[in-house]
Amino acid sequence: MKLPVLVAAVTLVVSGAAHAQFQKPEDAVKYRQGAFTVLGAHFSRIGAMVQGRVPFDAKVAQDNAAIVATLSKLPWAGFTPDTEKIKSRTKPEAWMEMDKVRAGADKMMKAVADLEAATRTGNLDAVKKTFGEAAATCKACHDAYRE
Ligand code: HEC
Repeated sequence: MKLPVLVAAVTLVVSGAAHAQFQKPEDAVKYRQGAFTVLGAHFSRIGAMVQGRVPFDAKVAQDNAAIVATLSKLPWAGFTPDTEKIKSRTKPEAWMEMDKVRAGADKMMKAVADLEAATRTGNLDAVKKTFGEAAATCKACHDAYRE
């Protein structure tokens, strides 16, 4: 086997894993919507405790916050420029103001990390406060950039 061929093949596989996440733009849209959907489900479970609809369980809050913190990093990779023309709930404004969308994403990731830290204290007041702050970052971006 010729070595340069092998090297080229390995390089292709490695860079493929890092970059070509989506075969089609439709896949990128599904990916970001899927990430938001699962994130939202776990965020709501904490919300139910914060609002007193279900009893506060520190362990459950912590588990859900850890999932939310991980998922909060995912949707952004799905906002690829080639998805602009594909029907979704992302408003056209988002594509013109992607720097602001990214700034909103950064705020959300920070707020969600703070929420996770608060759940580790087991203190319901701290969870309430940081949940409210995180929810405000969701709302700010949705009001501006989601249909
Ligand atoms: C920086 C912007 C931004 C932030 C922050 C943000 N979202 Fe979203 N979210 C969007 C956009 C844009 C969409 C529409 C996605 C699409 O259809 O292309 C969306 C969609 C969703 C959806 C619906 C998914 C679907 O398929 O209909 C849920 C649920 C959701 N977000 C939950 C959240 C939660 C919970 C937070 C906060 C913890 C949050 N989002 C923070 C921009 C944001």
